[in-house]
Amino acid sequence: MKKQTEPKRHLISFDSRTFSHIFTDVLIIGSGVAGLSAAIQASKHNSVMVVTKDKIDENNTNYAQGGIAVALSPNDTIINHIKDTIEAGQGLCDIASVKAIVSEGPNRINELINWGASFDKEDDRLIFTQEGGHRFARIIRAKGDSTGNEVEHILIRTIKENNNVKVLEHTFTIDLITKNRICYGAIAWHPKKGYILIWSKHTILATGGCGQVYRETTNPDVATGDGLAMAYRAGATLQDMEFVQFHPTTLYIAGAVRFLITETVRGEGGILRNKKGERFMPNYHPKAELAPRDAVSQSILKEMQKTDHTHVYLDVRHIPKERLYRRFPKIKEICSSFGIDIAKDLIPVRPSAHYIIGGIKVDYLSRTTIKQLYACGEVACTGMHGANRLGSNSLLEGLVTGYIAGTDACKSIQKTRRELLPYTIRKSMGLSKISWLDLNDIKNSLKSLMWRDAGIERNERHLLEAEEMIEMWSSYVMDKEFSNPAGWELQNMLLVSKLIVTSARKRKESRGVHHRTDYQKTDNIHWKKHILIKK
Ligand code: FUM
Repeated sequence: MKKQTEPKRHLISFDSRTFSHIFTDVLIIGSGVAGLSAAIQASKHNSVMVVTKDKIDENNTNYAQGGIAVALSPNDTIINHIKDTIEAGQGLCDIASVKAIVSEGPNRINELINWGASFDKEDDRLIFTQEGGHRFARIIRAKGDSTGNEVEHILIRTIKENNNVKVLEHTFTIDLITKNRICYGAIAWHPKKGYILIWSKHTILATGGCGQVYRETTNPDVATGDGLAMAYRAGATLQDMEFVQFHPTTLYIAGAVRFLITETVRGEGGILRNKKGERFMPNYHPKAELAPRDAVSQSILKEMQKTDHTHVYLDVRHIPKERLYRRFPKIKEICSSFGIDIAKDLIPVRPSAHYIIGGIKVDYLSRTTIKQLYACGEVACTGMHGANRLGSNSLLEGLVTGYIAGTDACKSIQKTRRELLPYTIRKSMGLSKISWLDLNDIKNSLKSLMWRDAGIERNERHLLEAEEMIEMWSSYVMDKEFSNPAGWELQNMLLVSKLIVTSARKRKESRGVHHRTDYQKTDNIHWKKHILIKK
């Protein structure tokens, strides 16, 4: 076996004396639902700096359509929500984490409502929708299909009214600063300000996921797994990286962005049809279109293979037009921009990478295995989702775990009253500055490779091929020193892809979203356990 390229501790060589320095009690990296919730809590008694690599609202949260799962309906209970989440997780949920997050959900949603969030209502009562795997209608939504946008903008408004929170947009965080397994902040880069060393008493990673490592993904361009990669380089433990969730229905039009068609379309009665117009989901699962996501994605893939077609179709033509347009205004708008009238035409769809269930291992207080470093939202692995995430449980998890991380960071600072003590750091990584690489070409090849070899269906031969290709690209990309985000992102994507593939090779069974054609059964004797991975 060839020696694997281990990533260097930092992506760049540096001397901290040449950087500008910023001091903050709490540094939060990422500005989606988890990061902003953490910022609001942490700022109660502390200075907070939120650093984000694009605009504040360019993140997965802002694009989330379907909604937030929360046990607030009079017909539902917290126990029911806990049970459904655990059942979907197929033996790998951390029960304490599920209980803590689901139970805290109603308080956090009521708080958002108090801050001005407007969730859709009928006769002054919240409307609840059903999604796959949920036995009760418990998904709340905003503006029909723009729930994440509503949540994100209420949080941004709350942050902007808060003098303790500063936001640095368009600032790329390159690496965490650690000494003796304690985190002291991060090195970042801004196109005009250059390199910045941000010193903090506590650092909270809320950088979201890594859907961009796949050719087909619902995730925006920013989702390149930076937080996962920097935590790994700093020595944090990551968990269950093989569990990548594929959303069954993404708009599939060649050349168009892979726009999500929310699962709530199926919750409202949408039917999946193959190229011959036949409904196929009842042939695969008793819950048909409302089966859990992994089952729907796998069934669509089989149907595509069977009919030798690049996609299937979502049919909502039987739903009254007024209701359809009112319920899904964004989907109507996007589809009609491609000449599809959802009331009259079939919507071409296929699965794509949507969410990483694994991530940085955290405990019940969102603490990572590195002191003074928290992780929350998609970048973290709380164990809530086990091997399969229920739709709309992730905005809930982001909201609650952000709150938990921010609260604990705040408490810890009050308790220890520690001062920030900056020190000089000089790191020489022995990296080459000479590069004739075509970064875009490597990135696109990596995305295609991951889609082909580490996608919805996996097997040893393909995973091994992926591992070897990633290793080959890494051998000449990882020893380079880049001076802009395109290079750093590619290095992060290569590392995260490697972690996904290595974990997927290790798990020799099928469970939840991890489907191996060479090990089709769930093997509780050997694999009812987590895969932990550390530098
Ligand atoms: O289908 C959706 O609206 C996606 C929801 C989610 O991923 O939680």
